[in-house]
Amino acid sequence: MTLSVSGLNVERKGRVILAPTSLSIAPRARIGLVGASGSGKSTLGHALIDALRAQGVVVAHVPQSPDEALDPLRTMAFHWREAEKALCMGHNPARRKALFSALGIAYGNLTKRPWGWSRGMQQRFVIAMALIGAPALIVLDEPTSALDPVVAADTMDLLDNFLTGQDTAMVLVTHDLGLASRRVERLWVMSEGYLVEEATTEDILTRPTTEAAAKLAAHKSWLTVPC
Ligand SMILES: Nc1ncnc2c1ncn2[C@@H]1O[C@H](COP(=O)(O)OP(=O)(O)OP(=O)(O)O)[C@@H](O)[C@H]1O
Ligand SMILES: [Mg+2]
Repeated sequence: MTLSVSGLNVERKGRVILAPTSLSIAPRARIGLVGASGSGKSTLGHALIDALRAQGVVVAHVPQSPDEALDPLRTMAFHWREAEKALCMGHNPARRKALFSALGIAYGNLTKRPWGWSRGMQQRFVIAMALIGAPALIVLDEPTSALDPVVAADTMDLLDNFLTGQDTAMVLVTHDLGLASRRVERLWVMSEGYLVEEATTEDILTRPTTEAAAKLAAHKSWLTVPC
C-alpha cells in the first residue's frame, strides 16, 4: 500500500522550519532525503514518522547514533525485549536470531551492555531492533555517519540485502550524496524548510533543476565515487 501524508508543517518559536509538505511513498521505495545541514531533513523525517504513526502505520526510526537508542545501563537483551513489548509482540527468539543473522551480529553477546559492543555492532543492533515489527517504512537518519567507511558500507549492504524481497520502504536521511547515489533510486531535496525537488537519483545528480540540488550535485561526480 502506498503511504501518503499531506500538509506536514512544523513551526518552532514562531519560525517555520518545515513548510507545508505532502509526500507519498510506494512499497519497497528507496528514497534519499538530502540537503544542506539545517535544511530541515530531520524535521521532515520526524514529521513524516509522526503523521504515519497517527494513521496506524508501523514506522521504524533509526537515529544517527546508537547512543540515542540505547541506554548504557541496560543489557542488549533488555533493549530487545523492550522493543518487542513496545510493539505488543511476544518474545520470539527465532525472529531475533533471523534479524541478528541478517545484520551480521549473530555472535553478539546479549548479556553485555551497549559499551560491550563496538559502535558498528551497536548500530546494526539498533537497525535489527527497528525491523522487529516488519515496518511499512524505516526512516534512517544519517545511520552510518558515525561509523568508519568499511563498517558503514557493510552495514548498508546488510540492510539492502535484508530489505530485498520485503515490502518495507526506506527513507535514508543523509548529506552524503555518495551514499545516496548507491542506495536509493529517488531523492527528495530540502532547502530552508522546503522540499524543493524530487526526482530519480540519477536525474538530480546529473540534471538538477533547483539551485539547492545543483549545489549538492556540483560538489563531485557522485555517481563515480568509489564508496
Ligand atoms: N526544536 C527546535 N527548536 C527550534 N529550532 C529547531 C528545532 N529543531 C530544529 N530546528 C531548526 O530547524 C532547522 C532544520 O533543522 P533540522 O535538524 O531538521 O536540519 P537537518 O537538515 O536535519 O540538519 P543536519 O544535516 O545538520 O542534521 C534548523 O535551522 C534548526 O536550527
Ligand atoms: Mg538532521
